[in-house]
Amino acid sequence: MLTRKLYCGRHVSRAQDIADLRAMATRRLPNFCLEYLEGGADDELALARNREAFDAIDLLPRTLVDVSRRELGCTLFGAPIAMPALIAPTGFNGLLAHDGDRLLAEAARDAGIPFCQSMVSTVALEEIAATGVRHWMQIYPFKDRANLAGVVKRAERAGAEAIVLTTDASVFGNRTWDRRNYRAPMKLDARNLLDVALHPRWILDVLVPHGMPRFRNLGDFLPPGMDSARNAAAFLASQMDLTLTWDDIRWLRDLWPRKLLIKGILLPEDALRAQAAGADGIVVSNHGGRQLDTCPAPIDMLPAVRAAVGPDMTVIVDSGLRRGSDFVKARALGADAAMSGRATLYGLAAGGKAGASRAIDILRSEMERTLGLIGCPRMRDVAAEFVRQRHGG
Ligand SMILES: Cc1cc2nc3c(=O)[nH]c(=O)nc-3n(C[C@H](O)[C@H](O)[C@H](O)COP(=O)(O)O)c2cc1C
Repeated sequence: MLTRKLYCGRHVSRAQDIADLRAMATRRLPNFCLEYLEGGADDELALARNREAFDAIDLLPRTLVDVSRRELGCTLFGAPIAMPALIAPTGFNGLLAHDGDRLLAEAARDAGIPFCQSMVSTVALEEIAATGVRHWMQIYPFKDRANLAGVVKRAERAGAEAIVLTTDASVFGNRTWDRRNYRAPMKLDARNLLDVALHPRWILDVLVPHGMPRFRNLGDFLPPGMDSARNAAAFLASQMDLTLTWDDIRWLRDLWPRKLLIKGILLPEDALRAQAAGADGIVVSNHGGRQLDTCPAPIDMLPAVRAAVGPDMTVIVDSGLRRGSDFVKARALGADAAMSGRATLYGLAAGGKAGASRAIDILRSEMERTLGLIGCPRMRDVAAEFVRQRHGG
């Protein structure tokens, strides 16, 4: 811990783990951005439990196994991935680094893993597709079905492999830190304005070139001139379709011919409903603890969800992964792959594309080391016998 405290390197290549990247991001970002990146809902108990749940999983090593060659490669929807990881959809990445979505997508492409773009991202989905990354598009259930269909069709034309419908954020979680930072919607209070002034590197990277980032995939939803963050945030909240039920999934299934995933599932019975509704996959997620506080950690629900849907459905888990060993644990408990939210955002915020790539490199080498230490040379052979859950499950 002491070395972390003394650690004052600025270059991301010096970061030894995700916590080092987080320390760098903390120095670079103004308070309001850092709280946006890190914060959870209410008392942040779900946020904390996401980590505690991973820490409470023991890895059970086999010894005297030949681990001289280790392979991280797996398949996702029948196509190879370099390791069982994807970049989670996160909105407003332009706040952390200029063109943040594109930088993250390029880092994912270089590492051979898919990138899931948020619908409330600040780079046009066509621009992400042009990077050549394996591109997934996340959408929210907005009331305006014609415009929602427009985004889905744009994603189809751009060649996206999958649509991910996020279902756990239609009612917005209670993020008090967010409200405290503003005196009016998207108008920072004086304390935060002063704090922004104390972060010149962020101002030069994010604010000076193009002003506050704009939502680039919502053009048709927003009334003319409303695509600035200031105007759009409140408008978008009013657009969420709170009447949406499982019956409506058929509409999306009929519209979208490729892979469809439902994100925000925690219970086995909902996983079964997703399967019955024609989804190809699910993301077991609590939105990184940003929505319903005191809900279970997704990793704890994963074994029951996998048991319910059987071996063939694609199951992805997220929330709380900060170490390569967490991805190994996710595989052991039944996930095809796991999504990284904040871990790679820390890298992005610490150093743009180099930082995002450094985060992925760190996770990769930690995965590889973990395979060696547990005596399981191939990621695709990691199974339940390599872990023990001390609680949950
Ligand atoms: C800053 C931030 C923005 C997010 N924005 C979205 C979003 O636009 N759409 C979405 O489906 N999930 C969003 N999420 C949730 C992530 O997709 C993912 O579920 C979560 O980050 C996983 O937890 P982790 O950050 O602990 O890895 C966001 C998360 C963060 C941290």
